[in-house]
Amino acid sequence: MSYIKLHDRLPNIEHNLQMWVEQCKQQCHGGKVASYIPELAKGNKQALGIVMMDAYGEQCSAGDIQTVFTLQSISKVFSLLLALMDNGEEIVFHKVGMEPTGDSFNSMLKLELVQPGIPFNPLINAGAIAVSSLIQGSSQKHKLERVLQFFRKCAHNDSLQFNEQVYQSELHSADLNRSMAYFLKDNGVLEHSVDDVLDIYFRHCSIDVSVKDLARMGLLLAYNGTDPITGEQLIPKRYVQIAKSFMVTCGMYNASGQFAIQVGLPAKSGVSGGILTLIPGAIGIGVVGPALNSKGNSIAGVELLEKLSNAYDLSMF
Ligand code: DON
Repeated sequence: MSYIKLHDRLPNIEHNLQMWVEQCKQQCHGGKVASYIPELAKGNKQALGIVMMDAYGEQCSAGDIQTVFTLQSISKVFSLLLALMDNGEEIVFHKVGMEPTGDSFNSMLKLELVQPGIPFNPLINAGAIAVSSLIQGSSQKHKLERVLQFFRKCAHNDSLQFNEQVYQSELHSADLNRSMAYFLKDNGVLEHSVDDVLDIYFRHCSIDVSVKDLARMGLLLAYNGTDPITGEQLIPKRYVQIAKSFMVTCGMYNASGQFAIQVGLPAKSGVSGGILTLIPGAIGIGVVGPALNSKGNSIAGVELLEKLSNAYDLSMF
């Protein structure tokens, strides 16, 4: 099988990435590193890095690509995929909806609006907590092992680990998530103990990655669940289509509409500053820039992706 090569699809990309990273770094001072999870406040506000990877494993990168950060909300895409593989669509969408909220990622506003009180979509915190309760395993320990193994497979990196400091920090600053989980439990959306479900949720949010890991995970989604480098099908195509649809409609939270217009690619952000995106059928992309805009997305990362998309006409729309 022959695939599109990164340097054929994107001529002069190395030079352009270097230039855009330098330009976009100027934006960092206008953003804020997340601090509501205290450990995340240690993120480097000035950092900005990008890795792009094609189906041959060829990479192109610029900026602070050694930065290690936790997946945070990016993990919600993959916990959804695991829950879909464990349970099928019908069960998952009995517990969580398919619609964007237009509200911030940790808003509780709409939880009570629609009966029977299920979260609007799997990428807001309430929805991801509901999804975490669907991950299968014979014990809590087994569920956590399955989560880590799945993320390692998707990133093709056996050394991925939970970041203990960030996990503990989330655990102890989670009053809002905890209140949502109790609300879901009361509505019959969560079937297990709130503490166990939140433990899975905090753990997958606190997996340490690099932008290269994000690019490899993006590549897997770009090729609909079959890793083009190994040829292994890790996720059914249908579930990846569902995940990518959510990335377009809800992946950048209440800035998803703007991102669709300005960049036009499926993407998912996290509060530690990561963005995972992809050029369908071609390239996986990982970005990190811990300084966030008011919607909780990397301020310089979004600008960098905008430049990339505009220069090479990458929008899907
Ligand atoms: O539960 C939280 O608030 C975090 N673990 C994840 C939130 C997040 O990454 C939202 N992203 N923009």
